[in-house]
Amino acid sequence: MRISLFLCLVLFVFSCSKTPKSSSIVKNEEKVKALISKMSLEEKLGQLNLRGTSSRVKGELPEELKQAVREGKIGAFLNVMNKDYVKELQRIATEESPNKIPLIFSRDVIHGFKTIFPIPIGLAASWDPETARQSARISAIESSSYGVRWTFAPMLDIARDSRWGRVAESPGEDPYLASELAKAYITGYQGDSLNNPTSIAACAKHFLAYGAAIGGRDYNTANMSESLLRNIYLPPFEAAINSGAQTVMTSFNEINGVPASGNKFILNTILRDELNFNGFVVSDWDSIKEMIFHGYAQDLKHAGELAINASLDMEMTSRSYELYLKDLIEEGRVSLDQINFLVSNILRVKYKLGLFDNPFVPENHDGNLYAKSHLEKAKNAAINSSVLLKNEKILPLNKSNTIAVIGPMSNQPHEQLGTWAFDGDKAHTVTPLKAFEDAGIKINFAKGLDYSRDKSSQGFYNAVKAANASDVVVLFAGEEAILSGEAHSRATINLPGAQEELIKILSETGKPIVLVIMAGRPITITNIIDEVDAVLMAWHPGTMGGPALHDMLFGDAEPGGRLPITWPKISGQLPLYYNHKTTGRPPSKEKYVQMDSIKIGAWQSSLGNQSHYLDVGYTPHFPFGYGLGYTTFEYSNLKISNTVLESNQLVKVSVDIENTGERKGKALVQLYIQDVVGSITRPVKELKAFKSLSLKKGETQNVSFEISTEDLKFVNNDMKSVIEPGEFNVFVGPNSAEGLETSFEYK
Ligand code: NOJ
Repeated sequence: MRISLFLCLVLFVFSCSKTPKSSSIVKNEEKVKALISKMSLEEKLGQLNLRGTSSRVKGELPEELKQAVREGKIGAFLNVMNKDYVKELQRIATEESPNKIPLIFSRDVIHGFKTIFPIPIGLAASWDPETARQSARISAIESSSYGVRWTFAPMLDIARDSRWGRVAESPGEDPYLASELAKAYITGYQGDSLNNPTSIAACAKHFLAYGAAIGGRDYNTANMSESLLRNIYLPPFEAAINSGAQTVMTSFNEINGVPASGNKFILNTILRDELNFNGFVVSDWDSIKEMIFHGYAQDLKHAGELAINASLDMEMTSRSYELYLKDLIEEGRVSLDQINFLVSNILRVKYKLGLFDNPFVPENHDGNLYAKSHLEKAKNAAINSSVLLKNEKILPLNKSNTIAVIGPMSNQPHEQLGTWAFDGDKAHTVTPLKAFEDAGIKINFAKGLDYSRDKSSQGFYNAVKAANASDVVVLFAGEEAILSGEAHSRATINLPGAQEELIKILSETGKPIVLVIMAGRPITITNIIDEVDAVLMAWHPGTMGGPALHDMLFGDAEPGGRLPITWPKISGQLPLYYNHKTTGRPPSKEKYVQMDSIKIGAWQSSLGNQSHYLDVGYTPHFPFGYGLGYTTFEYSNLKISNTVLESNQLVKVSVDIENTGERKGKALVQLYIQDVVGSITRPVKELKAFKSLSLKKGETQNVSFEISTEDLKFVNNDMKSVIEPGEFNVFVGPNSAEGLETSFEYK
């Protein structure tokens, strides 16, 4: 069945268009077919093999590795970061292996290669696809100079639970925002043309529902209805594939009882048949082997059989294909057609990347590592990503003030790079302390705590002294890089160590405190928010975090981020997300009963009986989409072009935004809709569009959006994409909890 699909595709591309682009597709398909007909089974199986080597391997390249390449037993490598090794391995493959098929070198280039950008959740906070695209483009330019032509990014896992460590790498909780970012990342990594030596193949990961891990515990089970899977978790992947993503990585988790790496439903039915994906699928690290631990495969051979028959093309690090595929074919458990289908998927990508013609890094391609223009873009990205959560008229600071620079993240070049920053050199990282010094700010510096988990109060005395000698305290707090990312989930997500105590002691000095958080996830700050005058969330801001923070704190730039994920009051509220269902007993201010106001001995049914927590209520600390700037805006005059929408028509919604503050600023206008009654219940709100505007002091601009029937679609319980007649509410505002409201009817 797989091979016939492949043949259909070849016939299809042969029969249609004559444009130069499609003629090159046809040529590639011819080449793939011709090459496959010459390859031995061993060589074919070699193409399915992605071998990891540690980037720390020193000295001579192991002979065993060279020999395996010579015999065509390896199709791709990850983590070979020595340029000479890359060259030598590629030379052996293209000169000495049976059919001279080039290798493809891969790496986790996640938010920058040498120039490190903010972590992906930070880039998502920019709500700016162009910022995401630029980060990916620069990552591709820099990493391809090391021979990397395939990155394991972007991660497109919707994340609704900030305890999950990989929230740091995620695009946040919303499928629309994540899809917009997905398109931008793919365009950035893959460039205008895949065969440009600075283009690298992207990998949409982790397919599928990896972010739905129970309790935010990494690798954990995802259990959900198929409509939820399709409405929330699938859209960013669909956007990536429609934008031309060449590869997809399976996730570690099981989905409704079937691990992703052996899941025919998600890999064959959804990915290949429905989304028409014709690149290749790679497993995650050992995820094929791990089907044994899931209790889904009996042994490694069985795991390989399950994965190969689910059309998982390439195996990362575990060796089930290498060791058992031949036997499985002989035993008739895997067909040769299936092998040909998978090999053709891999070869197709190698052809598209131009690896057969240009397997080596061009002599003159040095990647412009840490180029001024790269650093400038990384700095802008950090500005666009930072979210101002509170500002009691303290920011921006006055440059003539003396600043107490305090806190465990104030001068930590490695920590501010965040998770997955393997190649970023901390020597190039500019910390806030360094940036303040370079700008000639008068500083009293005392770390207070050595690192984020530090529980010792030894440094408090000097911190208080520095605060007393200054006009303002800027406290750089947060999480070290290691506390988020893969496998680094936390059950409580407050500031670790003695950071809250430090803040409380500093607040006793009476000096204004600006809290800057650098962390891989939202951090609960309920205990200390009243002790500080401003809170700026910088995530892990990357190489240029320091200069970006300098510019924002002193008013040369305005923090541009808005939350791409709901910010909880305490981790006990998680999972928490804005696009939840209403329930039969939606919470309300009127009926909410706070725990402390319950009378002693109260009768069981005397309370409001609605969906909330008695202690923390039902609202987050900060809603999805929230973020302040240095000015204020007023929304008025919401208009809708027609109150009835019919098929193939549009509804136009417009609103006036006035800058009512004292300086120019950015407004990020968000449009949400609610399908009031559905054949399956619909979320309270769904983001459908956003626009960013720059407004001068006193200026008013009119913004308009068009809502089409496409925006009303959802997948019902029959797995059909439908638009149902009825009433739709429309909300336009600065975040998911505020704004103006109107409605229309779809007939
Ligand atoms: C495991 C991670 O889950 C995945 O995201 C990454 O790309 C691979 N390891 C390779 O390092």
